[in-house]
Amino acid sequence: MDHDEGSSNPSSNRTFQDVLTGYASRRQVMKGGLTLAAGTFFGSSLAMAAKGGKPGPNGPTGQNRKNGLINFSPVPVAEGTGPVPSISADYQYEVLIPWGTSLDNAVADYLGDPDTRPSAAQQAQQVGIGHDGMWFFPFRGSNTRGLLAINHEFGGNGTVLGKAAPESVADVNTSQHAHGISVVEIRKQNGSWKLVKGSEYNRRVHVNTPVTFSGPVAGSDLIASDSVPMGTVNNCANGYTPWGTYLTCEENFNGYFNDTTGEWAATPEQARYGFSANGFGYGWGNFDERFNLGRPHNSAFRNEDNRFGWIVEVDPFNPDAIPVKRTALGRCKHEGIAIVEGRGGRIVGYMGDDERFDYIYKFVSESNWKSMRAQGMSPLDHGTLYAAKFNDDGSGDWLELSPNNPALAGMSLEEILTFARVAADKAGATPMDRPEWTTVAPNGDVYCALTNNSRRTVADAANPLAPNADGHIIRWHDSDQHTGLSFTWDIFIIAQDTHADGDERTFSDPDGIWIDPDGRIFIQTDGGQKKGLNNQMVVASTYDSGPDLDVRRLFSGVTSDEITGIAVTPDRRTMFINTQHPGNGDPTRTNFPAPTDGVTIPRDCTIVITRKDGGIIGS
Ligand code: FEO
Ligand code: CA
Ligand code: CA
Repeated sequence: MDHDEGSSNPSSNRTFQDVLTGYASRRQVMKGGLTLAAGTFFGSSLAMAAKGGKPGPNGPTGQNRKNGLINFSPVPVAEGTGPVPSISADYQYEVLIPWGTSLDNAVADYLGDPDTRPSAAQQAQQVGIGHDGMWFFPFRGSNTRGLLAINHEFGGNGTVLGKAAPESVADVNTSQHAHGISVVEIRKQNGSWKLVKGSEYNRRVHVNTPVTFSGPVAGSDLIASDSVPMGTVNNCANGYTPWGTYLTCEENFNGYFNDTTGEWAATPEQARYGFSANGFGYGWGNFDERFNLGRPHNSAFRNEDNRFGWIVEVDPFNPDAIPVKRTALGRCKHEGIAIVEGRGGRIVGYMGDDERFDYIYKFVSESNWKSMRAQGMSPLDHGTLYAAKFNDDGSGDWLELSPNNPALAGMSLEEILTFARVAADKAGATPMDRPEWTTVAPNGDVYCALTNNSRRTVADAANPLAPNADGHIIRWHDSDQHTGLSFTWDIFIIAQDTHADGDERTFSDPDGIWIDPDGRIFIQTDGGQKKGLNNQMVVASTYDSGPDLDVRRLFSGVTSDEITGIAVTPDRRTMFINTQHPGNGDPTRTNFPAPTDGVTIPRDCTIVITRKDGGIIGS
């Protein structure tokens, strides 16, 4: 969701002179007015910027690339504004697993009746709310049968409970069971995708599901308590590993805690992670001591707040496997993680921390992932965490977040990982405009959506707008096949460059991004779009960039929703995306996916997209 809260980063990692210089350089490059140290940008993208978005003389022409990759008719702006979705005339969609779909036959599907919302027990056996990141795990490469692992990021009390605040433990449990993830078996039969009710693989993981910790912080006093570790919450974007597991990322976990005592005062670390007496208004702490920041110091839940903000690994094919919080990946408001195999078979993960002025991170495993697994080690438990520093000349540095870094003197590895934001502050990482999803292109370039930053008052090269109302997408190329300590970077697209009158390309607030093996980038939005548009998914070619980038609207959602989450079958002829918080739960705005009746509560759901001619999605 587009969570509009204040920054909790008080550090000042850049001097005023730095940012002034950066701003001037960046704008001149964007206008093509300065031959800025060419070797420090990707040669091709500098050439593109200088020529107004077209590739350089040695590459295929932009037109050929566009014609080869993206040929569909875009949804016109005028059609993307209503209470039901719109899709390109070359495509079609169907709805899958709305909030409340039961996993088996023991519980009925919830269909949006405002008078009979799911109970806690029902919700634990139904698909949750707030559909977000997800991935499709096929059975033996199948394009018609597999497991969909899907995040349930959030659901407001008004929608889930029909009331502003919980009035009982049962209410809190209902809300908790609506969060987390679902793993469901899905099949295409008679041309239509359905959840397989009662599949042995169907599973909910929610806030009260036992979990375990692994990696350097697992035995630390920072997360120790007298209670069994439980749950995952605010599961935003995701990742997936080459060994077939799902990674779910805990984002705005702070908002689920509140204080009922009036006695609680935030520690500096709690303040840095945004904990507050009222949280986001969920009220869980009113009835559940785990989420009450004012709990006694000897509470069995005394370190509960440090137990969230991690990336959690789930094996979708083993419903009995306990989800594992991988602490080597650090603790922040994790948006997602893009995993790639780096030099020597090391696992590299790129991660955004979505808050104003927070950071981009990278994790590199200690050694070859296959060897590590053969020795019974998880590649996600042993390795090094880094934070990104974007220099104004188009170069960048990965700052090591470990006791080896002199800037972190006095912090143990456990403290560095648990309070990764504090460590990155000290190391001198670059405060960014809300890093959301990351994705890796076929040529190894890594892209990150910077969704917006209404509070930026001073621009820098990597965040060139102040304020940054509509966001941009940055990209970098790591040295040494993703494992090096330096990179070069440039800006792929600034959203406001698509906003001119009559410009049908318009999009704002990039959030979910994914690049397919052909080099198409899918950009999903979360925020106020221009020209009355609902949130949407647009497609562009990564072989182009700059202000003239050809951006085409494949799908637009429904009133007051956000489009997020992306998964594909192996043949990429079926794509799954989500509409999250359609109508913000208000049945007078939309009843989607139910027919329009003004009464039925709109439900978060997955949208299954196919080309009418059976082609590759995005083509
Ligand atoms: Fe959950 Fe940053 O979006
Ligand atoms: Ca967002
Ligand atoms: Ca998001």
